[in-house]
Amino acid sequence: AENMLWGGRFTGGLDPLMITYNESIHFDRTTYAQDIRGSIAYARANSKIGILTPEEFAAIEKGFQQVLQEWEANTFVIKPGVDEDIHTANERRLGEIIGTGIAGKLHTGRSRNDQVATGMRLWLRDQLRILEEYLVSFLKVITARAKAEINPLMPGYTHLQRAQPIRWSHWLLSYGTAFSGDLERLRQLIPRVNKSPLGAGALVGNAFGIDREAIAKELGFDGIINNSMAAVADRDFIVETLQWASMLMIHISRWAEDLIIYSTAEFGFVRLADAYSTGSSLMPQKKNPDSLELLRGKSGRVFGTMTGLMMSVKGLPSTYNKDLQESWETMLDGVKTTSDSIQIATGVLSTMTIFPEKMLAALSPDMLATDLADYLVRKGVPFRETHHISGRVVALAEKEGMPMDKLSLLQLQGVDSRFGEDVMEVLGSYEASVEKRTVLGGTSKASVQEQIQRLEEMLD
Ligand code: ARG
Repeated sequence: AENMLWGGRFTGGLDPLMITYNESIHFDRTTYAQDIRGSIAYARANSKIGILTPEEFAAIEKGFQQVLQEWEANTFVIKPGVDEDIHTANERRLGEIIGTGIAGKLHTGRSRNDQVATGMRLWLRDQLRILEEYLVSFLKVITARAKAEINPLMPGYTHLQRAQPIRWSHWLLSYGTAFSGDLERLRQLIPRVNKSPLGAGALVGNAFGIDREAIAKELGFDGIINNSMAAVADRDFIVETLQWASMLMIHISRWAEDLIIYSTAEFGFVRLADAYSTGSSLMPQKKNPDSLELLRGKSGRVFGTMTGLMMSVKGLPSTYNKDLQESWETMLDGVKTTSDSIQIATGVLSTMTIFPEKMLAALSPDMLATDLADYLVRKGVPFRETHHISGRVVALAEKEGMPMDKLSLLQLQGVDSRFGEDVMEVLGSYEASVEKRTVLGGTSKASVQEQIQRLEEMLD
C-alpha cells in the first residue's frame, strides 16, 4: 500500500483480493477523456490563482494530451495493483511524462471525491444528449408511420378484450404520447445532471480560492452544486437517470408486449423483419419476436440497476463513502441497456410490416354496441337506458346466432321502437364509428392528424 497514491501513512500490504475488490479502473476507465478534461480545467483554474505557473500549466496540459492519445490509440498500459481507478492512473502516467515535480502539484486542493463526481457528470450529460437524439429518432419513426398509415382500422382493447374500433395510427400515437413524456422528462433531467462539483475538495471546499464558476463554464456545465458537502455526497444525478430510464423502459416493455401479441398467427396484425427475429433450433417453422422479448426482459434489468443503486446509497452518512463507487456500474449498465433498447425499438418499428386486412377482419359488429347506444342518445334517450337497450340487442344477436349487423330492422325495433332506418348505417360501418371520435386526442382522422402535429412540434 505504500506505493499507492495515498500510501504515505500505510506500511502493510493489502490483501490481494482487497486490491481487486477495491479497484474500479476496469469500469471507470470509460471516462478517461472526461477525467482528463476535468483535470485540465482544474489546472487552468489553479494557474489563475498562482498555484501553478503558466509554464507548469502548459506542461500539464501538454502531458495530458499525450495521456489522452495513449488511451485513444489503446496503448495506455494500466499498472495492476497501482492504478486503482481512472484518476490515479491518469495522474501516475502524467507524472511519468512530465515528471512528478510538476504533476504532483495538479491535485492541490482537489480530492478524488470532487474529481470522480465531475467525470461522471460530464460523461453522463453527454450520454443523455445522445439518448435524447435516439429518442427523438424513435418518435420520428412513430409519427412518420402514423402519417403514412393513418387509415387502417383495428380493434382497440381494454383488458385485452376487443373494445371499440380504432385507427392503427391511434395505437401508434398512444405510445408516441408516452414516449414524448419520457422525452420531456429527459430534457428536464439533463440540466440537473450537468452541474459542476469541482472545487468542493474532499468535503469542505477549496482553500486556495479557486474559481468554481470559471471551471464550470470551461467544462460546459450549467452552473455548480453549491454546497461542497452536497457536491461530493450526491449521486442523485445517477439515481434520477435510472428512474427516468425505468419509466421509459416500462413504456418500451408494454409497447413490445402489444406487438408480441399482434405478431402471433392468431392476430397476424404485424410481422417483424428478419433482422429483428430469430428461429427455433428445433421447430423449422418458427419465427420468434426475440427483439421484442428482449426489450421486455431488459426493462427488468434497468429497474434492477435503479433499485440496486437506491439501496446502496440510502443509508450512507454525509459526503463521500466508498459505497458510492457502486454507482458506476449501475450507471454504465443502465445507460447502455437503455440506449441499445431505444435503438432496437426504432429498428423494429421502422422495418415492421403491417396487415391492415387482418386488423379489419379482427373487428366484430358487437364492437359497435356503444355506437348503437350513442345512436339512441342522439334521439334524446338517456345513456343509462340506451346502454341497456344496446345490451339487449347484443343478447338477441347472440341468441339468434348471428352477427349484430345482420339483425333486421324489425328485430331491432322489437327491442326498442325508437330504432329507425338510419340505424343500419351505424351498424354497417367501423369507419363511421371511428370518425365520430373527433374530440381532441380522439381516434378520428382529423384528431390523429392533430396529434401528429403536436408531437412533431416537440421533435424539431
Ligand atoms: N474510485 C472512486 C469512486 O469511484 C473514486 C473516489 C475515491 N475517493 C476516495 N476518497 N476514496 O468513487
